[in-house]
Amino acid sequence: MFRPLTRAWRGLLPSKALLSMRGTSRGARGNTNPINKVAVVTGSTNGIGFAIARRLAQDGAHVVVSSRKQENVDQAVATLQGEGLSVTGTMCHVGKAEDRERLVATAVKLHGGVDILISNAAVNPFFGNLIDVTEEVWDKILDINVKATALLTKAVVPEMAKRGGGSIVIVSSVAAYSPFPSLGAYNVSKTALLGLTKNLAIELAQWNVRVNCLAPGLMKTSFSRMLWENQEREESIKAAMLIKRIGKPEDCAGIVSFLCSEDANYITGETVVVAGGVLSHL
Ligand SMILES: NC(=O)c1ccc[n+]([C@@H]2O[C@H](COP(=O)([O-])OP(=O)(O)OC[C@H]3O[C@@H](n4cnc5c(N)ncnc54)[C@H](OP(=O)(O)O)[C@@H]3O)[C@@H](O)[C@H]2O)c1
Repeated sequence: MFRPLTRAWRGLLPSKALLSMRGTSRGARGNTNPINKVAVVTGSTNGIGFAIARRLAQDGAHVVVSSRKQENVDQAVATLQGEGLSVTGTMCHVGKAEDRERLVATAVKLHGGVDILISNAAVNPFFGNLIDVTEEVWDKILDINVKATALLTKAVVPEMAKRGGGSIVIVSSVAAYSPFPSLGAYNVSKTALLGLTKNLAIELAQWNVRVNCLAPGLMKTSFSRMLWENQEREESIKAAMLIKRIGKPEDCAGIVSFLCSEDANYITGETVVVAGGVLSHL
């Protein structure tokens, strides 16, 4: 949605103005949004989170990347800074309260506040029948995928309120609507995120904080390796798609940047499915 608009604007701009825009903090793509916003992205040293972090920074945001492992954070920050982007990072295991607090504190210390939260980190430690899922596995999936999202939101909202509002995007999955076989507990956690999105959108509107959700289909990342590294399984998954290819993390990034932009300022409580036309909802 961004790009045709951006191209149209470019056509109206004298080339000198375009050149000076590129030289400012407006980001490499010349978009007007989300310029100078501060964005925190969880699970952003790889896969979908990394692509979102890169795109937000390209679109002009100051981005704080994070994940459990310091070496992954260092590598992601080095890569994105090497591309000329305004990116810093800190370690954050989203299941740990002290890590969540440090993530928010880092953004406030380095950039003065938080405008955007992308809650992307998730786990799936179990493949099999739902009735075989142990209590320990249920706790882990619900803690990381659902509870941590709610608690991180709680930690950032006061910062957003101080700045007059903000935008939150929760990364769910198309599995929230169309369950993946043998991933029952994960599917349930992703359906819960649709409810969390709706409920938070209602509660946070009073602070001008919008809450939306992204539901990706199968994306080629290490998280989903099990689903695409077997060629037969990959072909059967592709057969159910209207767009006959497995997604790339970049397919998710632009829509998240749009949801965080002023162009989306009348959208809250919604879920966008990015799944190549896999059957989701009406
Ligand atoms: N790939 C798909 O097909 C697909 C489809 C639908 C939805 N999704 C959703 O998209 C999101 C990202 O998945 P992905 O495929 O991009 O995964 P990925 O490529 O495996 O990347 C996961 C990222 O999260 C970090 N991470 C893992 N556990 C974490 C934790 N507890 N706290 C903080 N960071 C953590 C990892 O770094 P460290 O190891 O350093 O922590 C890594 O940066 C997830 O919510 C997933 O459910 C994925």
